[in-house]
Amino acid sequence: MPISRLLYTSRSCLVPAELTVEQQVSNMAARAAMRNKELGITGVLVFVEDQFIQLLEGEGPAVEQVFERICCDFDHAQVRLVDLVGVKDRMFGRWHMAELSGGEDPASPLDEELRHIRFLMGVNARVAVEKMHECLLECEANGLVSPA
Ligand SMILES: Cc1cc2nc3c(=O)[nH]c(=O)nc-3n(C[C@H](O)[C@H](O)[C@H](O)COP(=O)(O)O)c2cc1C
Repeated sequence: MPISRLLYTSRSCLVPAELTVEQQVSNMAARAAMRNKELGITGVLVFVEDQFIQLLEGEGPAVEQVFERICCDFDHAQVRLVDLVGVKDRMFGRWHMAELSGGEDPASPLDEELRHIRFLMGVNARVAVEKMHECLLECEANGLVSPA
């Protein structure tokens, strides 16, 4: 079956509570990775200054099922589907949901890269996806993310 690649953006509705927003996002990405694994979904979740950018790839019906669930989630709002294409190969095949989050130090190189990705999303989404992949490999090489 061909692979669908879906890209969307949304705005976080998470507020700091017992856990910081960044911790809540990390927990959510870890739970998502477990569920995605069962459905053969791979991808990446970027979180930068209250904005989510998520890429999901997998068989069409599985991607649709997960996206429908995500759309009904009150943890975020203003979900905007940016791109949905059929592709030959997965780009994020090693990650059932990798997470790239900023916020720890807004001046860090990672935060700067994530803000650049957010900017690119408004200009050329496919270039933004390339950049997300590049950034993920870089973070992995620096031990900031692991296969999940
Ligand atoms: C930004 C964002 C990204 C999410 N990504 C995923 C995902 O990749 N896979 C997934 O199963 N759930 C994901 N979720 C969680 C789902 O929206 C939903 O809460 C979860 O699947 C549990 O649904 P259920 O309580 O109906 O079982 C995400 C939620 C948000 C806010």
